[in-house]
Amino acid sequence: MDDLLRLARQMRTRAHAPYSKFQVGAALRAADGSIHGGCNVENAAYPQGLCAEAGAIAAMVAAGQTRILECLVVGAGPEVITPCGGCRQKLREFAADDMKIHLCGPDGLQRTVTLGELLPLSFGPQHVAKP
Ligand code: THU
Repeated sequence: MDDLLRLARQMRTRAHAPYSKFQVGAALRAADGSIHGGCNVENAAYPQGLCAEAGAIAAMVAAGQTRILECLVVGAGPEVITPCGGCRQKLREFAADDMKIHLCGPDGLQRTVTLGELLPLSFGPQHVAKP
């Protein structure tokens, strides 16, 4: 988990969050062991902003990986932050219910949850699989 925390912290320093001033960093471990990071990237046209998790997922897929084994998010603390609803669904595309999501503040781990806990009874790729 240390490698994910290090990367997510570094990503958080690169967040573009001039509107919310709420910097977030995320890191994912893919099935081949590689790790990928992202930060939130806000936009003057507010709804066009991207979450840190979305950036990390895009980096992972661009690197040729499509399976997330583990995820870590670093927020501002002291309150625990969790991936937003949209990001939970984005993670679901590439991860199983038991995928661990480590929720961190600047000082480190606060809590670990699973994707299934955050997104129960989820809709996923199997529901649209062609027979
Ligand atoms: N944000 C993330 O990047 N990830 C989360 O898990 C929660 C929220 C971002 C979106 C926006 O740029 C800022 O945090 C405030 O909502």
